[in-house]
Amino acid sequence: MDVTRSPSFNGSILPFDPFPIDPPSPMNANPDRDPTQLRSHRWFGRDDLRSFGHRSRLKGMGFDDIDYRDRPVVAILNTWSELNTCHSHFRDRADEVRRGILQSGGFPVEVPVMSLGEMMMKPTTMLYRNLLAMEVEEVLRCHPIDAAVLMGGCDKTVPAMLMGAISADIPSLFLPAGAMLRARWKDQTLGSGSDAWKYWDQRLAGNLCDRDWNQVENCIAASAGTCMTMGTASTMACVAEAMGWTLPSAATIPAVMADHSRLAVATGRRAVDMAWEQLKPSQFFNSQSIDNGLTTSLAIGGSTNAIVHLIAIAGRLGETLTLDRFDELSRKTPVLGDLRPGGRFLMQDFFEAGGLPALLQRLRDLLNLDCPTVSGKTLGEQIEDAEVHDDEVIRTRENPVSPAGGVCLLRGNLAPSGCVIKSIAASEKLLHHRGRAVVFNDYPEMKKSIHDPELDVDENSVLILRSAGPLGAPGFPEWGMLPIPQKLLQAGVTDMVRMSDARMSGTSYGTCVLHIAPESAAGGPLALVETGDEIEINVPERTIHWHIDDEELARRRANQPGAAPEPARGYMKLYAKHVTQADQGCDFDFLAGRSPGEEPAIH
Ligand code: FES
Repeated sequence: MDVTRSPSFNGSILPFDPFPIDPPSPMNANPDRDPTQLRSHRWFGRDDLRSFGHRSRLKGMGFDDIDYRDRPVVAILNTWSELNTCHSHFRDRADEVRRGILQSGGFPVEVPVMSLGEMMMKPTTMLYRNLLAMEVEEVLRCHPIDAAVLMGGCDKTVPAMLMGAISADIPSLFLPAGAMLRARWKDQTLGSGSDAWKYWDQRLAGNLCDRDWNQVENCIAASAGTCMTMGTASTMACVAEAMGWTLPSAATIPAVMADHSRLAVATGRRAVDMAWEQLKPSQFFNSQSIDNGLTTSLAIGGSTNAIVHLIAIAGRLGETLTLDRFDELSRKTPVLGDLRPGGRFLMQDFFEAGGLPALLQRLRDLLNLDCPTVSGKTLGEQIEDAEVHDDEVIRTRENPVSPAGGVCLLRGNLAPSGCVIKSIAASEKLLHHRGRAVVFNDYPEMKKSIHDPELDVDENSVLILRSAGPLGAPGFPEWGMLPIPQKLLQAGVTDMVRMSDARMSGTSYGTCVLHIAPESAAGGPLALVETGDEIEINVPERTIHWHIDDEELARRRANQPGAAPEPARGYMKLYAKHVTQADQGCDFDFLAGRSPGEEPAIH
C-alpha cells in the first residue's frame, strides 16, 4: 500500500520547544566559569613564547583578543564534501552552529574531517569508519579544543564520530544531518535506497520502461539529507539521540526544514555550556545508555548495521556488548515505528508524528530514563513533554508492527559466532526454510553469473555469497541483499533466502542472513559450503544449520584453501592486520578500551 502524507507544510510542527534559549551567557558572566580551567587556556592563556605563537597566529587571521581570550574554543567538526550528497547542506549548518556558539560567548572554529558518503565511495565506507574515528579522536586531542559539535549523518559518519569523541573524552555533542524530504513519483511515495532496489527488480523483470526508470532516477533523492527510510543513517541518528548524544528531536527533523537550522544554532549554544560544565562523554555516556540505543534501534525497526556499530561503540567504553545481549533485548522490545523498509512510512512522517521523543515515550518502561544526556537533562526529562500525533506511524504498545524481534540473532554450525536477520523486512513464509545452496565464491563471480539463464536455481534455493566480510571483501560491504536471478524475477519471485558474511544496507529488505561470523576469509565454515548442500534457517528457534556429516566436513577441512595474502602497504595493511570480526564490532583491536590518550605536552 502506498501511504502518502501531506507533501509540504509551513513552519515548525515540533510538539514542544526542544531548544529553549537561556539568557545569553557572555564570558565570565558566571563566577563559576573559570577560564583558566579551560583546556584551551594552556594554548592561549599563558605568558610564554609558545602561547605568544598561538595568539599571534590567530591575530594573523584577523581575530582579536576579544574574539577568543577566556572563551571556550568550540570545534565544529564538519564532514561536508561535494562527494557526500547527504551532507550538501552542511556548509549552511556549520554557519548556524557558529552563530549559536557566538550567542553563548564561545569561540567557534570549523575543522573539516573525512567525509564518508555512502553513494560515491568504493568498495564501501565501512572500510573507512575506523579511519574517521581515529581522525576525530586525534583532531580533538591535538588542538586547543574545549568542546566539539560533531556534524555527521551518512551511515558510518555517526558511529565513527561517536567512537572518536568517546576515546578523546572531550565535551562533545552530535548534530545529525537529518533525512531527505519524502519523494514523489506519479502517485507513489518513494524511499531512497529501498525503492531503487524495488524498481530495479521491476525493470529486470520487464515491468518498467526506460522512461519510467529515468523519472524515478530524477526524483528519488528529493533534497539534501540522508536516506529518508529507516536506513542506517536514520537508525544511527535515533540511536545517538536515545543514547544522549543530541538535543531532543535532533534525529528526526528533516534536513532542509527551518527546525533543522534552529537545531544547529541550539547545538552550538549548548556546546559552549558543555565546555564550561566539562560535560565529557565519560560523564554522560555509559553501558545503560548503550542499552537505550539498542532498545531504540529495535523499536524503530532499525538497520542491522546498528548492531556492529553499537558493539564497536561499547568497546570504546571498555564494555563487551554481545550479540546475546542484543537478542535478549530483541525478544522483549516491540517494533513501534512503522517505517520503511520494514514498514510503510518515511522519516518525514515520523517527524510529523512526534519524532523520536514521542516513540520513546511509548517505551518508557523499557528504557533507562535516568541516563544523562548532553542537554544536561536525563533522558526521562528530555522526552517528558513529547506526544504522538499519528498512531499509524508510531504504533501503540497494543498494536505494534511486531510484538518483538525486529532483528534476530541466529547461531549454528554455519555461524558459530552468530549471524543476524532483519526479520521484519523478511518474508514470513521463509523464516523457517530449508533449501539447496547455490554458492558464489566472491562478489565478482556472483555478479557475473547471478542472471545467467543457465544458473541452476529455483525459488527454494538458498543463495550464498562468501568472501564478503570485514577481511574477505575487504571492508565488510553491503552486498548481503543478493539480487534475485532475473529468470526468477520474470517468473514473479520477489524474495528468497540469501546468506553471506556481508552486511546489507539499512534501506534493503528481504530474507537475508547477514554478518555470518567467523567470515569465510577468517576460516569460518562458510568457506566450505558447496553448491547442492542443504541449509536450514529457523528464525523462531534462532538457528541456522548446515546439513553435513562429520566425515564430509573433515574431508573439506583438509582441503581448505589457505588465507588470502595480506595487503602490502598503507591503510589497507593496517586495516587487515587489526580489524575484528562482525560479532566484535569490526573496530581495530588496538582502539578498544576506555583509555583516553595522554594530553599533548605543552612546549
Ligand atoms: Fe547517505 Fe543513505 S546514502 S544516508
